Amino acid sequence: MTFTQRVFSGIQPSGDLHLGNYLGAIRRFVPLQDTHETIYCVVDMHAITVWQEPNALRRATREVAAAFIAAGIDPKRSIIFNQSQVVQHAELAWVFNCIARMGWMARMTQFKDKAGKNSENVSLGLFAYPSLMAADILLYKGTHVPVGDDQKQHLELTRDIAAKFNNDYAAAIAEQGLGVDGEFFPITEPLIAGPATRIMSLRDGTKKMSKSDPSEQSRISLLDDADAIAKKIRKATTDPAELPLMVDGLKDRPEADNLVGIYAALSDKTKPEVLAEFGGQGWGRFKPALADLAVSVLAPMSEQMRRLLDDPETIDAVLRDGAARASVIAEQTMAEVRSIIGFIR
Ligand code: TYM
Repeated sequence: MTFTQRVFSGIQPSGDLHLGNYLGAIRRFVPLQDTHETIYCVVDMHAITVWQEPNALRRATREVAAAFIAAGIDPKRSIIFNQSQVVQHAELAWVFNCIARMGWMARMTQFKDKAGKNSENVSLGLFAYPSLMAADILLYKGTHVPVGDDQKQHLELTRDIAAKFNNDYAAAIAEQGLGVDGEFFPITEPLIAGPATRIMSLRDGTKKMSKSDPSEQSRISLLDDADAIAKKIRKATTDPAELPLMVDGLKDRPEADNLVGIYAALSDKTKPEVLAEFGGQGWGRFKPALADLAVSVLAPMSEQMRRLLDDPETIDAVLRDGAARASVIAEQTMAEVRSIIGFIR
């Protein structure tokens, strides 16, 4: 027996979805619908680990759902829902808080980056964040998780938590005949591949494109219209040299590497294929081509997102339907977990 091939991934509704979220995650969610069971979650409980204004949170939750649909995720073939509607996420996260060790959490670089010098003053939720993320995935016994490069360490922790749970409760799992070859939770495979696992700022090729960057010029928002998209690409920082013929020539040229990666991801090509077309040419040729390509892919999506957002009730109905379907799987896992642990029901 093997675990069902099941993809799970999540996006935080913390405002201003950008090209990095699209190329590193959402765009890659779409083809997985053909080969796997797919569950895509708007992780609103993760978002509140830092302050969110309630109306803004509602709007941002609908925005992520609209981006999923506009990108081509079909709410009938995939489960699309927001995390807080399936209460078992919080329940399993508590169990994992008791499995994960303080030292494991303290090593998380994203926590250290976000907390900075202020670590006494951030929420306890921010520290425990990766344990909730492990619960998201393992509640559905997710076998594959498509994410950008910045989530790699969290997925390693998810694997550690699954392995420790399987090991700590091995006797109960065997006694109750649960799990696959003695393993109750699968050891999840991260899917971090392709030319766009780490999209960088358009202003500074050494910084990740991020919603927390104060400069709006640093990122393309998924709600930007055609003009804004083209303008941001035209103004993107570059070095003066022409594009190299080979990928090796992108080394130590972070801005060039980033723009070639964006072109490759938007056109489903590899970087060598892009350089075969544009190598030896200057930015005067490449930037307009990239702007046209980005507008042709992103502008229709942003229009559809706007149309969907005009009708929030329809989006909410999609999320409710997804949550109902997710809850069936989540409750089955949780019932087994309670019984493995020794909780009486
Ligand atoms: P979040 O909301 O920060 O980002 C959502 C997805 O976008 C990817 N991403 C990027 N990819 C390439 N280049 C970038 N500049 C870039 N910026 C963001 C992220 O890697 C991510 O895939 N902890 C997660 C949300 C989460 C989750 C989960 C993911 C919660 N539970 C379970 C997978 C499975 C996060 O904060 O992503």
